[in-house]
Amino acid sequence: MQEDISPFLFGSGASETSFVNRDDEIRRLAVNFRSGIHTIMISPRRWGKSSLVLETARRMKTEKKIRFCFIDLFSIHSEQEFYEALCREAIKATSNKAEDWMKGGREFFKSILPRFSVGVDPQNDFSVSFDWRQAEQHRNEILQIPEDIAGKKGIRLVICIDEFQNIKSFRDSEKIEKNLRAIWQHHKSVSYCLYGSKRHMMTEIFDSPSRALYRFGDMFFLQKISNTHWEKFIVEKFLSTGKSIAHELAAKIAETMNNHSYYVQQLSHLVWMHTTKKATDETIQFALNELMNFNALFYQTIIENLSNTQINFLNAVINGVEKFTSVEAMRSFKLGTPRNVSKSRTALENADIIDVSNGKVLMLDPAFELWLRREYFRTF
Ligand SMILES: Nc1ncnc2c1ncn2[C@@H]1O[C@H](COP(=O)(O)OP(=O)(O)OP(=O)(O)O)[C@@H](O)[C@H]1O
Ligand SMILES: [Mg+2]
Repeated sequence: MQEDISPFLFGSGASETSFVNRDDEIRRLAVNFRSGIHTIMISPRRWGKSSLVLETARRMKTEKKIRFCFIDLFSIHSEQEFYEALCREAIKATSNKAEDWMKGGREFFKSILPRFSVGVDPQNDFSVSFDWRQAEQHRNEILQIPEDIAGKKGIRLVICIDEFQNIKSFRDSEKIEKNLRAIWQHHKSVSYCLYGSKRHMMTEIFDSPSRALYRFGDMFFLQKISNTHWEKFIVEKFLSTGKSIAHELAAKIAETMNNHSYYVQQLSHLVWMHTTKKATDETIQFALNELMNFNALFYQTIIENLSNTQINFLNAVINGVEKFTSVEAMRSFKLGTPRNVSKSRTALENADIIDVSNGKVLMLDPAFELWLRREYFRTF
């Protein structure tokens, strides 16, 4: 039955049919990709970076001369693994047939002998590995492989690297960054789209003048999807499944979740689940309580790992305090000394609980913020 399939999706990347707006952002990325301009994209978690890059690539599928490959540094822990993934994905993206991978791949290596293997599913299980003692002498040759392949085949290759800030966990990461810049800046057929969610780590890599990858490409701070677009999307999705919701209630769902992509989808899904025909304000309240209950244990664990001053700092944030070191704020919220304030802010930022941008402090997780207000501090 059509109406038993939820039109709202969260957790995995937004799909073709559940993708909301982002027209300007898609155009900006597409122009960069076609023109060979590198892109650096930063936004807090779950706002929609991965979905946006995937959707842009999907819409550019008909442009036969552009190919994409995707690497996620979340599951890559060393320089060697990174280069293996880079070569594997570049080879896969530039040839259509599995047989070509081995043949085609080999001809581009000059000083090193890579090992190729194909698994049970020859369309997908393809891997490249190096003897690192040999390969580390020829890093530059490895980094040049995608450019050589793309150039020879007359293809423009866009290499998308997710959670790029994880490069900082590789040994000698600053040296690696220098090397990447030295080689990548001469590429003509390959461009890089590097994105990540840890603002402070990403800006350290790409916005510090002393670093090798300083302003390496178009710096793109992805914003949230607007309330108007969410409202329209939610109303349409209810209608497409034989249910309905008033415009102002749809807008309220998005507003309650601060227009945060993941949570707007999750709350919409729960409201949809509890609606037989027409959603009401009570349905939203019910769904919101359910969402809080689902997450309560998780929020409790976060709180248990914070110190009292850090918890007090969060209280100040959700109460709209702007000058945390003012005598008044430090006293009313028991924030300790200015040094304590600065330590709390750094710790909460590193734990991805708050975002500090232009001196303004915001809670990153709108549902956690609501839970703190309602259940923990019980301010309303
Ligand atoms: N354009 C969009 N339209 C509809 N839903 C979206 C859109 N972008 C993101 N979402 C929703 O938000 C969720 C998170 O998006 P996504 O995984 O792309 O974010 P992200 O920024 O890559 O997160 P992370 O930093 O955790 O990797 C998706 O599962 C989807 O539900
Ligand atoms: Mg992502």
